[in-house]
Amino acid sequence: MSSKIKLSPSILNADFANLADQIKAVEPYSDYIHLDVMDGHFVPNITFGPLMIETAKRITDLPLDTHLMIYNPPEWVEAFAEAGSDRIAFHLRSCRDPESVIRATRRLGVSPGLAVSPEVPTFELKPFLGMIDFVIIMCVYPGFGGQKLMPEMLNRVGAVKRDAAELGVVVEVEVDGGVKAQNIPMVLEAGADNIVVGSSIFGASDASRAAAEVRAILDRTDKRTAASGS
Ligand code: DX5
Ligand code: ZN
Repeated sequence: MSSKIKLSPSILNADFANLADQIKAVEPYSDYIHLDVMDGHFVPNITFGPLMIETAKRITDLPLDTHLMIYNPPEWVEAFAEAGSDRIAFHLRSCRDPESVIRATRRLGVSPGLAVSPEVPTFELKPFLGMIDFVIIMCVYPGFGGQKLMPEMLNRVGAVKRDAAELGVVVEVEVDGGVKAQNIPMVLEAGADNIVVGSSIFGASDASRAAAEVRAILDRTDKRTAASGS
């Protein structure tokens, strides 16, 4: 994609009986496919495991953005890497030694990221900012698609970027949860580099059209940013 701001549709609310068609429908407008892995312990819902990443890999050439909402990521990171994840984020407070998970992910040739839930302060990310490629800022309590974005989470985007800049590193900030056409301007204003959009694309009657509309909003914003020279 030529656009600077990335779009990562989450298949959480897709029609799994027609998964290939659904992914193909959004592919032309997307930069990643976002896969939400839930274990029923770290979050109160269960979704899918490595087999779904393998399935998505067979459907699309887009890179796969795996979002682990599970306890014990050290035990699982290899399986999700081998299944075809191009990048893997796990949550702060989901394991004792995030650094070793980050390093293991990198050794497996996969780009590492950390996700932060609304109740976890972003300063807990600081020790790891120099080791990861991206941060997922959750704007809903993880577990379900279709929730309302918590606007008070958006100032975390700038806070994380400032913390990274102080350390002399750059991290991509991905905003996840409740993002839809109406609030995208606000999310982009906050500085998001990548947006996850689930139900407002796959819950729409025409997922392709919904993804195209989101892409058009992102492209308009990119043009404005380029024109203002910032
Ligand atoms: C929530 C997931 C999100 C979610 C996004 O726990 O991490 O990725 O699927 O879906 P919407 O856009 O419906 O909030
Ligand atoms: Zn997610």
